[in-house]
Amino acid sequence: MNDASTLPTTLVLLGAGKMGSAMLRGWLALGMDGHGVTIVDPYPADDLMELAKEHGILVNPPSGTISPPEALVLAIKPQTLEAAAPDIAPLVGANTLVLSIMAGKTIANITQRLPKAKAIVRAMPNTPAAVGRGITGAAASAGVSAPQRAAASALLSAIGAVEWLDQEDWIDAVTAVSGSGPAYVFYLAECMAKAGEVAGLPADLAMRLARATVEGAGELMFRDAATPASQLRVNVTSPGGTTAAALDVLMDPNGLEPLMTKAIGAAKRRAGELSG
Ligand SMILES: NC(=O)c1ccc[n+]([C@@H]2O[C@H](COP(=O)([O-])OP(=O)(O)OC[C@H]3O[C@@H](n4cnc5c(N)ncnc54)[C@H](OP(=O)(O)O)[C@@H]3O)[C@@H](O)[C@H]2O)c1
Repeated sequence: MNDASTLPTTLVLLGAGKMGSAMLRGWLALGMDGHGVTIVDPYPADDLMELAKEHGILVNPPSGTISPPEALVLAIKPQTLEAAAPDIAPLVGANTLVLSIMAGKTIANITQRLPKAKAIVRAMPNTPAAVGRGITGAAASAGVSAPQRAAASALLSAIGAVEWLDQEDWIDAVTAVSGSGPAYVFYLAECMAKAGEVAGLPADLAMRLARATVEGAGELMFRDAATPASQLRVNVTSPGGTTAAALDVLMDPNGLEPLMTKAIGAAKRRAGELSG
């Protein structure tokens, strides 16, 4: 699945915070040579500096000394782009792939700030990226070549699965499902724990049971990727049993599905409002 040979040989990482450093660790684990990597970040963390030293990565060289790389990864906060654009622009060469994970910044926004950028991939990862189990939706501008798309896939696969999107405007819905999704799952664990308390359990025990159940069910889905979630559910639901009694409530026409549809719709709308 990961093909290290398609990783770019020269790369500038702009913004080495939570996401940027998770990606960097993934690339190094895939075998990327640190000597081709440059990090630009105003306050790089101590552990990142150690990692950089270990792998021969250049950190914050004097501005004006960085040549345009094969790939420029934008992992700064979206609100930072405008102010940073004059410093970023000289890093974009004719053949530079610009890979942005900035939430809400469209390909058009990036082109406007970095007019020389022709090959732009806009990606939306999620927080399980920190443990290499993220999922990223990615959309490419028309100027992205097949090798550049392969390079972007390799870079993004370092933090988990990658889904290429036919249309950039699907990103708001991707944000609503997987970008924001981990929080829904954490909340599911909270709700199960609270319901366990109502059912008579001590709060700490209810929370341990709920957490471990969400973790374990997630792992089962991960290990059995070919089986649809609906079938996994059916497999553990005996007719007339306890699970069926709960699912009758959750799967009622006024149950979880319409609520989740409403929640994801609200997140998608907000993603649209924040874009630009
Ligand atoms: N975390 C997520 O789950 C998630 C999911 C999807 C997308 N994203 C996107 O990923 C991007 C990064 O998020 P994050 O959570 O990793 O944020 P973060 O931890 O705040 O990382 C951003 C990093 O960029 C640095 N920075 C600020 N201005 C800079 C500049 N002009 N040049 C270079 N570096 C600069 C920041 O330094 P200082 O801290 O010193 O300012 C910080 O280290 C955001 O655009 C976000 O929308 C994040």
